[in-house]
Amino acid sequence: METLRQFLPSFFQHLPLYPEQASTVAPAVDALYLAWVALSLIFSVLIVGATVYLGVRYRRRRVGDAGEADFEAPAVELLSMAVPFVIAMAMFVWGTKVYIDLRRPPEDAVEYFAFGKQWMWKYQHPNGLRQINDLTIPVDTPIKMTLASEDVLHAFFVPAFRVKQDVVPGRYNVVWFEATKTGQFRMFCAEYCGTDHSKMGGIVTVLEKEEYEAWLRGEGQPTASPAAAGEDLFTSLACSTCHGVEDSERGPSLHGLFGSEVRLASGTTIEVDERYLRESILNPLQKVRPGYLPLMPTYAGQVTEEQVVSLVTYIKGLTAPPAPEAGLAEVAGG
Ligand code: CUA
Repeated sequence: METLRQFLPSFFQHLPLYPEQASTVAPAVDALYLAWVALSLIFSVLIVGATVYLGVRYRRRRVGDAGEADFEAPAVELLSMAVPFVIAMAMFVWGTKVYIDLRRPPEDAVEYFAFGKQWMWKYQHPNGLRQINDLTIPVDTPIKMTLASEDVLHAFFVPAFRVKQDVVPGRYNVVWFEATKTGQFRMFCAEYCGTDHSKMGGIVTVLEKEEYEAWLRGEGQPTASPAAAGEDLFTSLACSTCHGVEDSERGPSLHGLFGSEVRLASGTTIEVDERYLRESILNPLQKVRPGYLPLMPTYAGQVTEEQVVSLVTYIKGLTAPPAPEAGLAEVAGG
């Protein structure tokens, strides 16, 4: 397998249809893809070959010829089912393994954001720096890119990284990749999204880690990090009026909420993740917690997806209020 993987890229690099392998998942994706192509070719040749051969070999020679129906070969029949079954299962297991690796970002992945909008991409770096269409990232760093759309369906596609992910309006999608070489790679929108769909893309520049740090400093805009921008919004939208450090009559506290399980008025429980927080901002009456009146206004149309991401990032970072003992001690001490 290793020799195959090493041989293929050098051979295919001269084919214009075969992009460079520039991410950790690329070799595995290519190996799987090429194995499927090879398998399809082998079976196509076998089936077409057998059809032609048997057609000629057993053609009707005289008028009134009829085939003999007493042919019985259970072993052949069994094999003709068992072999494809084993091959299909092996490809299924292999494909699932690659799929899971592609879908599951590593724990230590750095979080970036991308927003699709007719017809441009807006990126946000962990420090808050924004880029339009072109993206600059560090090499050898796993990156978890949360994708959101401001309008219609788009798709984030970097052929050299072998990743493509639809960006569905109304929800978050995630793609992750780790660039293995520095350089410049094309990025495309891979879902038809209107007149200028074909122009919706850019260049992904992969830099050495130090170069990336220097580049970030050079870009130098002291933009607020998503969490800081979220905190500002939280205040300016007056979220803090109802969502304080402690639960109040008006609304539950959001401190320590992320990742926990909450019970809903409907009786079901739900894990608080990015999706739930997003929904609660845009469509607050959808999943109300028991004991609270459905008072919260919707913020749909008032905040962009980018602002929602900032709010969600801020809320994720709100830690649980101090334990009661500490609170009491404080009161006693004060
Ligand atoms: Cu966005 Cu096509």
